[in-house]
Amino acid sequence: MRILFLGDVVGRTGRDTVAARLPGLRQDLRVDLAVVNAENASHGFGLAPDMAKALFAAGADVVTLGNHAWDRKEVIPYIAETPRLIRPLNFPPGTPGSGSILATLQDGRKALVLQAMGRLFMDSLDCPFRGTADTLSKYRLGASVQAIVADFHAEASSEKMAYAHTFDSQVSAVIGTHTHCPSADAQILPGGTAFQSDAGMCGDYDSVIGMVKEGATLRFWRKMPGEKLGPAEGEATICGVFIETDDTTGLARRIEPVRTGGRLSQAMPAL
Ligand SMILES: [Fe+2]
Ligand SMILES: [Fe+2]
Repeated sequence: MRILFLGDVVGRTGRDTVAARLPGLRQDLRVDLAVVNAENASHGFGLAPDMAKALFAAGADVVTLGNHAWDRKEVIPYIAETPRLIRPLNFPPGTPGSGSILATLQDGRKALVLQAMGRLFMDSLDCPFRGTADTLSKYRLGASVQAIVADFHAEASSEKMAYAHTFDSQVSAVIGTHTHCPSADAQILPGGTAFQSDAGMCGDYDSVIGMVKEGATLRFWRKMPGEKLGPAEGEATICGVFIETDDTTGLARRIEPVRTGGRLSQAMPAL
């Protein structure tokens, strides 16, 4: 299975660029499953239903959220009726939406996509490790599902690596989100799980993690409340990873970074 995972879509430039480029990427990379993190799509904070619909229309099969899940309150009723939009599975019981979705591809193959959120330098939540283990106990990789993709939304690379090693061989891929900086550690772990600790963002990198740099830098050195943060609107780099898995085992055969457009050094897998 060929899987494209795109990191946090930030603001209008991120949304518009993903909408414009995703159909071509799907075609060029012959993608079977596209997962897009969109927790920052709405002006950097949250996701509105019309924006989610635009990402689905552009070719996202599953959209994931994160700590900004509820910044746009309209998403609360929308997520309840949209199983392809998921939020971290370790939110408290009773939280709207689901932390995983079993997606059926056009050819009938099945892929489980789940999201968990880390706890180091993040809001305290239920345990992401136990929550993920609970979800995984319902599926068998390479048997009931051909692939399992975990979006681990976390700040600390230590927690991300620990999470990936914990579920190595049980999932096809663990891809980190949230830091908005693509890490250079794409690898297949010894048990066969593809891993990159952060996918990076789909946004303008002439910024502070996607937000206008003037206001965002002032916050750090003046230590006074400044102007409201807004997303930078220059040309976006689309950041993510491309993964190829073996349908019979569900394990990864290949993981490569994708970085295209905008300011970052470019990377595109060759088929
Ligand atoms: Fe984010
Ligand atoms: Fe986040």
